[in-house]
Amino acid sequence: MSTLTPSIETRDHVMQRAKTENLISPRFYTTDYEAMNRLDMSPLRAEWEAMLAEYEGDNNHDHFTRDDEAFRSEIRELPPELRQEFLDFLVTSITSEYSGCVLYNEIRKKVDNPDIKRLMTYLTRDESRHANFINHSLRDYGLGVDLVNLKATKAYTYFKPKYILYATYLSEKIGYARYITIYRQLERHPDKRFHPIFKWFERWCNDEFRHGESFALMMRAQPHLLRGFNLLWVRFFLLAVYATMYVRDHTRPMLHRAMGLEPEEFDYRVFDITTEISKQVFPISLDTDSPSFRAGLSKLLACSEGFARGKARGGLMGRLAQAGHAIAGAATFVRLYLHPVKRHDLPAQIRVAPAW
Ligand SMILES: [Fe+2]
Ligand SMILES: [Fe+2]
Repeated sequence: MSTLTPSIETRDHVMQRAKTENLISPRFYTTDYEAMNRLDMSPLRAEWEAMLAEYEGDNNHDHFTRDDEAFRSEIRELPPELRQEFLDFLVTSITSEYSGCVLYNEIRKKVDNPDIKRLMTYLTRDESRHANFINHSLRDYGLGVDLVNLKATKAYTYFKPKYILYATYLSEKIGYARYITIYRQLERHPDKRFHPIFKWFERWCNDEFRHGESFALMMRAQPHLLRGFNLLWVRFFLLAVYATMYVRDHTRPMLHRAMGLEPEEFDYRVFDITTEISKQVFPISLDTDSPSFRAGLSKLLACSEGFARGKARGGLMGRLAQAGHAIAGAATFVRLYLHPVKRHDLPAQIRVAPAW
């Protein structure tokens, strides 16, 4: 991990890291629950009921348990830098999982629309299992997160319901793509599986995939969210989610290399999968294979690193450097936003299978 990131040695460091607010850190959200309550699933009644029946079946009810002794016997001693990056990965992952849990649970409590309430009950169940499973792994290092405290003290960002739908859909699908890419790589190279948690990723990512399917149905049932002016928002969230992942992963190069993956190769593979899936719902996708798009993401990363160096340096020169990199980063983001996108028709068959 970049030497500019504070290290994680104690529970206090874990809490500070989980509560960090910057452009690439996972956030907690609130929304307009009244508007969520009005989401109408009747246009896709059959698909919706079939999906709720899958949740009801709960095929992962026995998955998030572990035999502590066997689990711990597979935890390897890691070089200090890799250990830091892995702990950072666990902390950002638990923050994301728990962010979903808190948001879904709030929506569950505040709506009376039975379709939305039922879905949110299942989503809360799944995300709370995910967060608790990661917390177990942090506790192996003596570093659990106090989730109750995190819920009470982390800053919340307000998002309109449609932004919640775009952003949550994408984060569920990109979460699937990340977990399955890691799982497949370690399936091919078991010697590189430096921690047993990765063995859980296959069935785990199927939960995330299904969560994404739910948001896909919610958006396809309100088709105005997927055309006209709203496509500018879709475009924004696609870029924001992809760029955040790209910058965050490149601050932890050792983590990916230990698995035999270069961050660059890993991220573009994850983009390919996410883009392919997202055609079920978005009539546009980012042209992540284009050299000019890729150059823009590299530039954004350089700006983010320059900003962090300026912050670490402090003083007037440090502040000037931060300002310069912030302006260059914003200009790069705008150029990436204006980069031509690919367009496609939405398929009649909405659901996609988790076939990766
Ligand atoms: Fe999850
Ligand atoms: Fe999820």
